Amino acid sequence: MLTVNTVKELKSAVRAAREAGKSIGLVPTMGALHEGHKSLVDRCRRENDVVVVSVFVNPTQFNNKEDLRTYPRTEEADKALLEAAGCDVVFMPTVEEVYPEPDTRVFDLGPVAEVMEGPMRPGHFNGVAQVVSKLFMMVEPDRAYFGEKDFQQIAVIREMVRQLGFKLKIVPCPIVREADGLAKSSRNVRLTPENRAIAPNIYRLLSESLDFAKSHTVEETIGFVTEGINAYDAMEVEYYQIVDGITMQPIAKWDDTNYAVGCITVYCGDVRLIDNITYFRK
Ligand code: PAJ
Repeated sequence: MLTVNTVKELKSAVRAAREAGKSIGLVPTMGALHEGHKSLVDRCRRENDVVVVSVFVNPTQFNNKEDLRTYPRTEEADKALLEAAGCDVVFMPTVEEVYPEPDTRVFDLGPVAEVMEGPMRPGHFNGVAQVVSKLFMMVEPDRAYFGEKDFQQIAVIREMVRQLGFKLKIVPCPIVREADGLAKSSRNVRLTPENRAIAPNIYRLLSESLDFAKSHTVEETIGFVTEGINAYDAMEVEYYQIVDGITMQPIAKWDDTNYAVGCITVYCGDVRLIDNITYFRK
């Protein structure tokens, strides 16, 4: 595995691979890698000749300075995980390397970015579009891998790819969970032991709502999940919306879509957790 810190080294590594006719897969990450990230790297390994993983805590997508400051950084452990997963090139740049000058681009990402995380985290998706578009320009991958844990992020990246005309395939990958159902996240380590113990109830309620939804309306299903989670003192639902899985627009009736996905964010203590569940995809 080759570790590179500069764009120049990254480009020369991928150029050599492309000239040899090899396919290139990219997995963008912010490090603090866990099994969820590894599942993307594993899939990328199976589908491409060369696997490139970026590890970069992107400041432009953090709308909360404290979150950026306290974001876990575990460079050595990340390298060991990537080496074991068969990664070929890991790109670990500094902020100055990615942003030699401030990125002033403002993306108009349209309706997919105007709901849920869009208004809750102003500037977040613009920062994601900035860094991911830069990575796509640097690596020019054939395929790029993203987790469905950040469900809306995939829709936003698809829109950015469409607008900028990148010729690559976005590959969505399923959520990897802890044994008790909690979606794996780099932020889970911030949960207090008490809150870590109740956090799996998010997925429990989402799962139980699949059955509930069969005989109830969209609104009733939203109430079932929200009230069930809010019943825990230390948990507070920020939003629960059931949306079309492509357009991200909230649905009023089950018949409004062929692909219904419930997207949730919950404050568990002061840690913001995110999860989602698919009701159906026809
Ligand atoms: P990060 O949170 O590090 O996540 C990197 C990738 O891993 C994302 O595509 C995310 O959806 C996926 N992932 C995280 N936890 C997962 C889980 N439990 N199961 C499946 N996939 C999971 O998302 C970002 O970084 C950044 O926004 C990034 C795209 C790298 C741009 O900076």
